[in-house]
Amino acid sequence: MFIGIDLGTSSVKLIVTDEKGEILKTVSKEYPLLLPKEGWSEQDPREWYEKTIEGIKELVGDFNKPDVEGIGVGGQMHGLVLLDENDEVIRPAILWNDGRTTAECDYLNKDIGKDKLRAYTGNIAFAGFTAPKILWVKNNEPENFKKIRKIMLPKDYLVYRLTGAFSTDFSDASGMLLLDVEHKCWSKEMLDICGITEDMLPTLHESFEVVGEIKESVSEELGFSCDANVVAGAGDNAAAAVGCGVVSGSCNISLGTSGTVFIAGDSFFADDNDSLHSFAHADGGYHLMGCMLSAASCLKWWMDEVIKSEDYSGEQEGIEGLGDNPVIFLPYLMGERSPHNDPDVRGMFFGLSMRTGRREMLQAVLEGVAFGIRDSYEAAKALGMNPTRITICGGGGKSPLWRRIMANVINADIISLENDEGPALGGAVLAMVGCGVYDSVKDASKNIAKVKETTKPEPLLAKAYEEKYQLFRKLYPAIKDIR
Ligand code: XUL
Repeated sequence: MFIGIDLGTSSVKLIVTDEKGEILKTVSKEYPLLLPKEGWSEQDPREWYEKTIEGIKELVGDFNKPDVEGIGVGGQMHGLVLLDENDEVIRPAILWNDGRTTAECDYLNKDIGKDKLRAYTGNIAFAGFTAPKILWVKNNEPENFKKIRKIMLPKDYLVYRLTGAFSTDFSDASGMLLLDVEHKCWSKEMLDICGITEDMLPTLHESFEVVGEIKESVSEELGFSCDANVVAGAGDNAAAAVGCGVVSGSCNISLGTSGTVFIAGDSFFADDNDSLHSFAHADGGYHLMGCMLSAASCLKWWMDEVIKSEDYSGEQEGIEGLGDNPVIFLPYLMGERSPHNDPDVRGMFFGLSMRTGRREMLQAVLEGVAFGIRDSYEAAKALGMNPTRITICGGGGKSPLWRRIMANVINADIISLENDEGPALGGAVLAMVGCGVYDSVKDASKNIAKVKETTKPEPLLAKAYEEKYQLFRKLYPAIKDIR
């Protein structure tokens, strides 16, 4: 058996699979997202670990635990986890959707300069990336900065607590703005700029490499055999792409808390327009990715905070006539990353009238997120990319209505899969490769990802959405200076 873990922003999702990738059981444990100030987003890493241990116990409770051969984790990217000399967490982790680093990003992009950043790392600075956060701690919490002995990403904290191995993988490390992505090594220049040394950073691995065995003490607590292997794992988007069988030239759309467009390639590719990230993939190759900060979280916000309903499918059932809704929603509830790189912009409803009701507004939320995804898709098309296969995963991808809107907004077939547990399945696949069940990630993921349904665009609706998308695109330039 193999365990795949998706360390997400709203919860940790765990699956246990057999060697063919059949999911035997799924468990999910929620934890809070802390928003202590406008634009800030934090979580307590210890809570991730505690909920993961609770989850593993529940997951394998009914099985013969010593049969667990390997574990792989896919995790929310970019988060800054800092440990002191006693391996204690210094402050809450600063997450991928935190927007506090405007000054540090300006310093990196303007004073150091985008050309140098691109040459050192393959990317420019975005507020959610890890290096600007290290600079923020240096500038705003010098006492905490002095205590730093280890810097790690969220899933690496789990791997460290489970095995004692201080490791990371290339896909996740790509999002730190400390890695020379093309050459897969730490950038000495970026370390100097941030005032840190290489011994503070984890060792680098391919995602499918075994980095350690479960520690004896943890193994005893879980009832595993001690030699259960843990692989380096991957950033959640690369792990999801593995779980969805995304190989060179194909694309995955994830509608989780964030929304991403992930396009895999065999060789390193930089976006000179700086809209998309140039990162390593978990299969040994590379990828381009656009990330919107609020995707399924816009729907959660609408349901929880505004209409206070838990009936997600009931609310969506009322939406019938797509294509004639005049309301437009800008999904920038936490600022926006791709393509605007603007942590301070905020969301908006446009086009309200006396005829507008909750259905039109909910529909606008679903459409606005799809338009945000289209922005990244367009950025990829501008680079000459024309994905051959588009899959969808994440909580939002489970909604048939949202899939239909997405297929028409993108004007392309969208494939949903039998097992849509993207990052967790990807984690299990990486563990299988690490344990020698498959020769390569590509082989494994092609065998495991099985198509369930293809949602096709409808010509008239796609045309209506094309017109609405052109209106959507006019809104950000019109409001961006109103602050
Ligand atoms: C990707 C990104 C998000 C997080 C969400 O760059 O920031 O997709 O990984 O978990």
